[in-house]
Amino acid sequence: METIVPEQVETLKKQFQTDLAGVKDLAALSALRDKYMGRKSGLVHALIKQIGRVPREERRAFGQAVNELKTYVESSLERLRADLEARVQAEQLERERVDITLPGLRPRFGHPHPITRMRQRIEDIFVAMGYTVEDGPEVETSFYNFDALNIPPGHPAREAQDTLYLSSDIALRTQTSTVQIRTMERRRPPLRIIAPGKVFRRDTPDPTHNPMFYQVEGLTVDRNIHMGHLKGTLQEFVRRMFGPEVKTRFRPSYFPFVEPGAEVDYSCFLCFGRGCRVCKGAGWIELGGCGMVHPKVLRGVGIDPEEFTGFAFGLGIDRMAALIYGIDDIRLLYENDTRFLEQFGL
Ligand code: PHE
Repeated sequence: METIVPEQVETLKKQFQTDLAGVKDLAALSALRDKYMGRKSGLVHALIKQIGRVPREERRAFGQAVNELKTYVESSLERLRADLEARVQAEQLERERVDITLPGLRPRFGHPHPITRMRQRIEDIFVAMGYTVEDGPEVETSFYNFDALNIPPGHPAREAQDTLYLSSDIALRTQTSTVQIRTMERRRPPLRIIAPGKVFRRDTPDPTHNPMFYQVEGLTVDRNIHMGHLKGTLQEFVRRMFGPEVKTRFRPSYFPFVEPGAEVDYSCFLCFGRGCRVCKGAGWIELGGCGMVHPKVLRGVGIDPEEFTGFAFGLGIDRMAALIYGIDDIRLLYENDTRFLEQFGL
């Protein structure tokens, strides 16, 4: 048996120190750990296995030297591992560094469209008066757009409202009055509903006309409802919408589904009736059509006109928005040019 002397330990330590100095990363470190401390073929373990074979008198000194080497190797590996990991982390932090002094990208804030804001204001006013908000389809049958509203085939109102037909019986609704019928079919009086939405007519676009525009329908049906309720309701609406000074006036008019029917105007909120740019000198601005629900319409949906009466109105949302926001061409409201719409932020 070859003599095993403590020099062997010294040699291995030197070799280890040389190897350790060459380690540049964690992968090399792991390989080095295997080389010296590996359970099967690690060089330090090879020495440990030899302890038993050392002559008794040298064994103690040899064992001690091997143990010291083992501790030295372990702590050296551990120290280097900590160093390397710290370096890796420092490099990563440097790579991912964020320069918080760079100017940021300013986010663009959106806001509701002026028509949406107008619709919400209208809804708020009527909801506060006890109305609920209803909805109806924009593609309608002639039944809901005409027949049920007392506009039979051949009636001039069918032509007057230049309908956009999709087929012989289906059209884009020309008025939100369709929702009156749909609501009364579903629910019994007492009823108090509004129905804002899009309507469509075959109009040539100009500053005050667009083939698509917005109306809000209103309908109240209950016992003993009369014209005074209609006038009071619309007066209260314009008061809340345009201000306490603003008045209403009702002019007799004709719509097949109301009797009597009227057109309602409100005194100009800018000049209070004296005449100005907004009301084009008239002092009054048209709000919409209204009237007492025709007994035929009530009977058609199975409501007894002897027991119940009601009033209805249809107001133009676009025109109100145009006046309130000072827009002189309503087509601008539908072009969705953000440079234009940006002015109407909250
Ligand atoms: N639907 C009518 C229109 O579009 C307005 C209206 C609604 C008139 C309700 C009377 C009652 O012109």
